[in-house]
Amino acid sequence: MEITSTVEGVRSMVNKWRTEGLKVGFVPTMGFLHEGHESLIKRAVEENDRVVVSIFVNSKQFDKKEDFSNYPKDTETDIVKCNMAGAHILFTPEHDGMYAEGFSTYVDMETLTDSLCGQSRDTHFRGVCTVVAKLFNIVRPDKAYFGQKDAQQVAVVKRMVNDLNFDIEIIECETIREVDGLARSSRNIHLSQEEHHASIVIQKALRLAEMAIYEGENDPVIIQKYIKDEILSEKLARLDYVEIVDAETLKPKTKIEGKTLVAIAVFIGNVRLIDNFVC
Ligand code: PAF
Repeated sequence: MEITSTVEGVRSMVNKWRTEGLKVGFVPTMGFLHEGHESLIKRAVEENDRVVVSIFVNSKQFDKKEDFSNYPKDTETDIVKCNMAGAHILFTPEHDGMYAEGFSTYVDMETLTDSLCGQSRDTHFRGVCTVVAKLFNIVRPDKAYFGQKDAQQVAVVKRMVNDLNFDIEIIECETIREVDGLARSSRNIHLSQEEHHASIVIQKALRLAEMAIYEGENDPVIIQKYIKDEILSEKLARLDYVEIVDAETLKPKTKIEGKTLVAIAVFIGNVRLIDNFVC
């Protein structure tokens, strides 16, 4: 695996592959890789001739400076994980390499970004869209891989790719979970043992809702109440939102029918966790 921190470095290697007719897969990450990222890389390796992974903690998608500066880092272990998963290039740009002095162009989306996580994270998706667009222009992959845990991010990236005519297929990959059901996330490291245990309530609430829908309940208000009550039963948990929306447009549903996303965000102590299911 080659490691490069320059745009020119990635471009020259990818251009060479392109002249050889090879298909390129891409997994953008912010590092501190866990099994969720590893599964994205492995899937990309299965479906492409070559795979690029990027690690860049994108300051523009953090609302609070503390969240950005506290973002966990372990580059040495990340390198080993990327290598083991079969990546061919690890792209690790510096902040100034991505946002040089005078940087002033952003990708702003008019729909999809105000609801769910966008309600409490004002400029988050502007930052995500901007960095993902830049990374897509740098790497120019055939396919890019994202986890379903961040369902809104997947919907937003798909919309952006469509709206801005990126010739890239977005592949949504299933959420990878810890043994107790907690969705793998770089934030899980911030949970104490007690909080980790308490976070099981998220899975319980979602499974309860899924079961009720499976058994025929199609009223979003009732499903939301089941979820709220379950989350309330855990004293360390505080519900940020529970939304039942169309999986593509993210518009709220008045009846559960068609492809529906049930998404929640819950604070366990100070750690904000998200999870969802699609039915
Ligand atoms: O999901 C993430 O880790 C980030 O939002 C992404 C897509 C790498 C953009 O910084």
